[in-house]
Amino acid sequence: MCKNDLRIFYKYYDQIYLKRKDYENESQTIRQIIKQFEKKPSKTLLDIGCGTGEHLKYLSQSLKCKGLDISEEMIKKAKAKVADAEFETANMIDFSLDERFDVIICLFGSIGYVQTFRNLVRTFKNFLNHQNNEGLTIIAPWVFRKDFRKGAFSIDTYEDDETKLVRMGTSKLTRSHWLVYFHYLIGKDESIKYSSEVHKMLAADYEDYINAFSLAGYSETEFLKEDEGAMRRGLFVAIK
Ligand SMILES: C[S@@+](CC[C@H](N)C(=O)[O-])C[C@H]1O[C@@H](n2cnc3c(N)ncnc32)[C@H](O)[C@@H]1O
Repeated sequence: MCKNDLRIFYKYYDQIYLKRKDYENESQTIRQIIKQFEKKPSKTLLDIGCGTGEHLKYLSQSLKCKGLDISEEMIKKAKAKVADAEFETANMIDFSLDERFDVIICLFGSIGYVQTFRNLVRTFKNFLNHQNNEGLTIIAPWVFRKDFRKGAFSIDTYEDDETKLVRMGTSKLTRSHWLVYFHYLIGKDESIKYSSEVHKMLAADYEDYINAFSLAGYSETEFLKEDEGAMRRGLFVAIK
């Protein structure tokens, strides 16, 4: 698997995303979905690709939580924010924990980093192995292939007294992957530095996710969608 080098992404993650995401509201939506679908009261939750721990900050108020991420740097930031949760640095495709969870979440397109359909099935099988019977897996998918917009650009800015940052992004769709190119201009310590990175993501559609859940062995899958918030790109709820 091609390893993404996301150093700049990690370094400025909160500066960029805290401005445009309402984690408290998204966490509230996740809580409501758990209540709606659980067959017995859920007590434990594993957040896979937890990033800097923003959802766990809220979810750990009512559930026993663990966060897992491939990046040590992100886990370090999450630990500093969320004293009530435990954390693990590992790859979602093949991690192995001695615990099972009532709820597994994987939000904000983190699942897209598995890159291929084969890995998606493998990853869902692994999620299922860490799930209690009748447990829920809630996935916010990476953008569906059918929603790719050729030539679209994103722009984000951040500034404080020491740093000014501009990030522009654009994507390319190949037969096998969705490539996201980010270009950064970072003004700091009397100079402006340029850097760029590529995120190699899964190029899949709704049907591919449904197939992957089924091949992995989930018994039921639903897709929920709203125009805003945590459900903007839709959420899959799969039951063991
Ligand atoms: C877009 S961020 C989402 C973070 C967080 N869930 C949020 O909503 O802000 C994607 C996260 O997935 C993590 N990630 C990427 N590949 C991964 C893998 N193979 N296993 C576990 N985590 C991974 C990244 O390190 C990053 O923290």
